[in-house]
Amino acid sequence: MTDIAEDGRTWLLSGPGSSYALHLTDAGELLHLHWGPRIALADAEALAVRPLPGHRAFESPLDGREEYPVEGGPRFVRPALSVRTPERRGTEWAFEAYDTEGAELRLRFRDAGLVITLHYRMRGDVVERWVRLDNRGEAHVELLRADAATWTLPDREGWRLSQLHGRWAAESRLTSAPLTYGDKVIGSRRGHTGHQHLPWVALDSDATEERGEVYGCALGWSGSWRIAVAQLPDARVQITGGAGYDDSGLLMLAPGESYTSPVFAGLWNDGGFGGASRAWHAYQRAYVIPDADRDRPVLFNSWEATHFDIAQERQTALARRAAAIGVELFVVDDGWFGARTSDRAGLGDWTPNPDRFPQGLKPLADQVHALGMQFGIWVEPEMVNPDSELYRAHPDWVQYQTGRKRTEMRHQLVLNLAREDVQEYLWERLDALLAGAPIDYVKWDFNRCFTDAGWPGEPYPQRLWVDHVRALYALVDRLRAAHPGVAFESCSGGGGRIDLGIVSRTDQVWTSDNTDPLDRLAIQHGFSQIHPARIMAAWVTDSPNTQLNGRATSLRFRFVSSMAGVLGVGGDLTEWSEEELAEARRWVDLYKEIRPVVQHGELYRLRPPEGGLSAVQYLRGDETVVLAWLQAQRFGEPVPALRLRGLDPSASYECRETGEIHRGAVLLHHGLHAGLRGDLDATVLRLRRI
Ligand code: GLA
Repeated sequence: MTDIAEDGRTWLLSGPGSSYALHLTDAGELLHLHWGPRIALADAEALAVRPLPGHRAFESPLDGREEYPVEGGPRFVRPALSVRTPERRGTEWAFEAYDTEGAELRLRFRDAGLVITLHYRMRGDVVERWVRLDNRGEAHVELLRADAATWTLPDREGWRLSQLHGRWAAESRLTSAPLTYGDKVIGSRRGHTGHQHLPWVALDSDATEERGEVYGCALGWSGSWRIAVAQLPDARVQITGGAGYDDSGLLMLAPGESYTSPVFAGLWNDGGFGGASRAWHAYQRAYVIPDADRDRPVLFNSWEATHFDIAQERQTALARRAAAIGVELFVVDDGWFGARTSDRAGLGDWTPNPDRFPQGLKPLADQVHALGMQFGIWVEPEMVNPDSELYRAHPDWVQYQTGRKRTEMRHQLVLNLAREDVQEYLWERLDALLAGAPIDYVKWDFNRCFTDAGWPGEPYPQRLWVDHVRALYALVDRLRAAHPGVAFESCSGGGGRIDLGIVSRTDQVWTSDNTDPLDRLAIQHGFSQIHPARIMAAWVTDSPNTQLNGRATSLRFRFVSSMAGVLGVGGDLTEWSEEELAEARRWVDLYKEIRPVVQHGELYRLRPPEGGLSAVQYLRGDETVVLAWLQAQRFGEPVPALRLRGLDPSASYECRETGEIHRGAVLLHHGLHAGLRGDLDATVLRLRRI
């Protein structure tokens, strides 16, 4: 809902529990007024007439107060917008008009031929912001930087910044530190979202898991990006973010051209980090994730079981066992196409390997379907191995610079998706693939960063950074529209491409190549700060963990760890004993029972994975599920009870595992004993309100 003051210069957007307000001064400056609890228009108007602090030499009264600081004039903050024309650099804009449409507010400004429109849209309590730039002039305009939004926080004592950092096989780990003066910059200059940071920050001054104010901002962009959190000289805090890492040139807008930034979403919540996460999850389930109401199936993925050694017979053997333990979707990973018998060849040649699949993929897909499962495949369309038919035919289709090395990583090069011929090739190949065999699922991978992002012959080659992502989005959107029954998974060497942009056009994401069930608890804890279990793929693989650390864990611990998201199995089932397969079947059956609560319920993080006991709780209607893990019991100390959340204190709850009846008030205040002991123990507890 948008309230507008009579003079048309103060705007108030409100969701069920929060408000956001801004004001245009008589001098034409667009100032931030409020972001926090729900307020009335009269409150916003009162804020609008509060005088700005006095103007001192060496400081700008605008800094830390503007909605979208442009470059130029009396401003010293990092600009959200930096443009250059043949005559000048910077922006001196004048307000033109505003309009609203449903929950969306648009404010239009102009600087000569450049029209700048700020967009605001309230979805639940999430404010979505983005900017659109239209070149209506006669000359080219270069966008050096065009952030999606700048967020302004209220004055508080001592802000703390939380972020999700990582690297390959160690993604989305939560870390927090006090904010100090200056800029804290996170981002990616790698061409994809990156394993190093999820594009999310949270700021609080005194919040705990379930109490206190938390401000969160998350960017929906799957290429290079930057979020800068600045504590200004007067301690005010602003957060600005958008596509691209550097300010050295994003796009050149020819007359008539436009740029629409990605969405930078912001959320205020006063229910602590848990409340903020639940609000982010609800927002994504309601507005971002396609078909979010649909359950995600239990999948099997062949990667850890067979790596590149893919033959139809072996896959069929795995498929039989997968079906027998209750798997619903069988995914053949890397190695089914071209000359792809290792990572040295074949990328780019998206036709089944004739030695391995002489009749194509259909016979295997049919077998999998006959076993009652869906069939999925792995692709990595944005890449090419130099040893491939595609590269031999089109060596100029990759990103490269004339006379410079073509840097190979994992023996592959990046295709220049900004080129229309490359886009057309990929569309034809992938469309034919999906039309040629009954494929229900595509795992879409991206296994190296940009390094030589050149485009010989193109007058403004750096546009390929933005245009690559636009082309990726367009390709996925077009494939989804043409093959509506096919689900997509976003993968990038594990969790290297997870952001609201890719989440809006894929059905789930591969969280990490790290399938060690203990490491995963920390990765999942971080992931859950922003994204819901509904998209978080988690596989049970073999023990000891061969690819990472040799750690041995029970099937129980592995399953309970993976049941916190979209359960998958990735172990070599042909090596599992009859007892293990029977146990796996019981866990898969149990998962299917709790799946609606896990995938669509509200998440409460009861205890973080910090060494001893950790647990999460999901709540949906009358059903509650608790997953608990004990890393190590020390000195024979009793394991603490888990205080549950979100229950009705006056109701009673039956524990399906023990048959015991618990009072809600007791579960909330005194807790529930999960019955764990020793090392690496885990359990699932189901409670139902009676
Ligand atoms: C990436 C993915 C893995 C697997 C391999 C295949 O590393 O994250 O799950 O698909 O590629 O090459």
